[in-house]
Amino acid sequence: MCGIVGYIGKSNNALKILIDGLKSLEYRGYDSSGIAYVFHDDIKIIKEKGKVSELEKDLDFSEKINSGIAHTRWATHGVPSKLNAHPHRCEKITLVHNGIIENYAELKNELEKKYKFKSETDTEVIAVLLNDIYKEKNDIFSSIVELKKRLKGSYALAIMCSDSLDKIYAIRKDSPLIIAENKEGTFLASDVPAIIKYTKKYYLLLEDEIAVLSCDNVKFYNDSKEEIKKELITFEGSSNDAEKEGYSHFMLKEINEEKSIIKKFAARYKTIEDLLKDYEDISSYDKIDIVACGSAYHVGVIAKYLIEEYVKTPVSVEIASEYRYKNNFLTNKSLAIFISQSGETADTLASLRKVKEEKVKTLSIVNVVGSSIARESDMVIYTKAGPEIAVATTKAFIAQLLVITYMTLVLGYRKELIDSCYINKILKEIHSLDISKIIDKDYTKVAEILKDKKSIFYLGRNIDYAIALEGSLKLKEISYIHSEAYASGELKHGTISLIEKNTPVISVLTKDAIVEKTISNIKEVKARGAFNIVVSPIECDFADLVINIPKVSDILMPIVAVIPLQLIAFETAKKKGCDIDKPRNLAKSVTVE
Ligand code: F6R
Repeated sequence: MCGIVGYIGKSNNALKILIDGLKSLEYRGYDSSGIAYVFHDDIKIIKEKGKVSELEKDLDFSEKINSGIAHTRWATHGVPSKLNAHPHRCEKITLVHNGIIENYAELKNELEKKYKFKSETDTEVIAVLLNDIYKEKNDIFSSIVELKKRLKGSYALAIMCSDSLDKIYAIRKDSPLIIAENKEGTFLASDVPAIIKYTKKYYLLLEDEIAVLSCDNVKFYNDSKEEIKKELITFEGSSNDAEKEGYSHFMLKEINEEKSIIKKFAARYKTIEDLLKDYEDISSYDKIDIVACGSAYHVGVIAKYLIEEYVKTPVSVEIASEYRYKNNFLTNKSLAIFISQSGETADTLASLRKVKEEKVKTLSIVNVVGSSIARESDMVIYTKAGPEIAVATTKAFIAQLLVITYMTLVLGYRKELIDSCYINKILKEIHSLDISKIIDKDYTKVAEILKDKKSIFYLGRNIDYAIALEGSLKLKEISYIHSEAYASGELKHGTISLIEKNTPVISVLTKDAIVEKTISNIKEVKARGAFNIVVSPIECDFADLVINIPKVSDILMPIVAVIPLQLIAFETAKKKGCDIDKPRNLAKSVTVE
């Protein structure tokens, strides 16, 4: 939700390091930002409302600075404003925070007797509380240990103390934080893009650890101040992952990366044996729950259709924020699958923990290596799509689709419902799948039709409905046009009353067995004046506009059908002049409930 960066080292360029880091994390929050750095033996704080570029204007980069912490915010407590922006300071303590403190009101009540608060944030409460503890203990380490005991909720914190300006302290719970070092100094960040220019190796800070960063090294301790030795993780992507590489937007770059993602998967899985090596045997479970949020939930809906059709195993797909608070009727024959790009989504993580308490086996499909969901699951399959910067997910979605397709094939094979001949055919098809032509099509004509509309509908049946759900979400989140996806047959049970002359209806038509049924629904809306746009591999003379996609095996159709929907959303948002990579009110990694 928010992005944190910290640096302490030999370089006098700390301001640039921190600002560059913030810019690379801006996808995590962009309503305000701020920086605190050591200046003439004190801590100087500068904050601004709006994008990091606003903060940048206030800084004097000729100042020789070698230590600081910085933050880009996605507001939870208190409106986006200079006052509510981080860092927050209380006397000797200055800190930045990502997460939500659940007991902040209670703590604030108590502290208000002694301190005057300046902001509406839960973060200022942490700064005041830590300062209060520090005044009593006069030891920053043990004060942080005490702070951890007092806070309820989620946090990643980078802390500076005016009495030990040669150090930065870091702790976390349920919000991500990585730590890295090179010859020049030590770094902390919410995510890899902020450090990738300096090093590919990093440590993952765990919840029972405290990191102490200094100019020459970083040390990790447990609460009893015993040093902990940690393993370095190597980031497998490249430093270009955090750059636009000539594309106008990260979203467009990431859609284009879908080509290489498919190639990478195809190169890794050439035979059924390759799949059997990587995909654990989950054939003994007789019920599968898939739990996720947003687009990842849509992948779950697609997985349900695939697994039920090809593997004949019942699957429930659940929105994580609902799942965590309901009865789920799991048994020791159930498997719970969690899908998440970030691996940090609060509701998905809470659902995972709930299921684990019930001793049910868990498997996660995650993009970010070492993220909480990945670490806490019994089994994990990494989607390896590389860092995704645009808030709207695209390439990670395609990678998730590939994983659930492979999973369906392996599961079907193990249950003797799919033979190796069919699997080899699909693996070959993935190998020769060329999506360039889909990506390179001109979607500006569709965008022109959609850009001034108030409301747009997406239709599909069965797996096409799941694809329609994703198309609709993509459009609304980045172009701010209201849109709804409907199972084609459901429209006439109410929603069809909203169709009027020239209402755009985008239908996904890929599934041979039910094509005729959806065509009837398309004709129904046509009769009421709709402008029909159809995404399909078949001839559609009944449509007003057709986006032709290649005909591939049914099991692969979601991959080719969703790409035009991603690009329609992109082009429409572009025509409207929206901030495509950072849509209003959204953040990439939703680490709060
Ligand atoms: C939409 C989008 C979100 C995420 C959702 C889950 O483009 O990106 O709907 O899919 O917030 O996030 P993860 O996958 O990180 O759990």
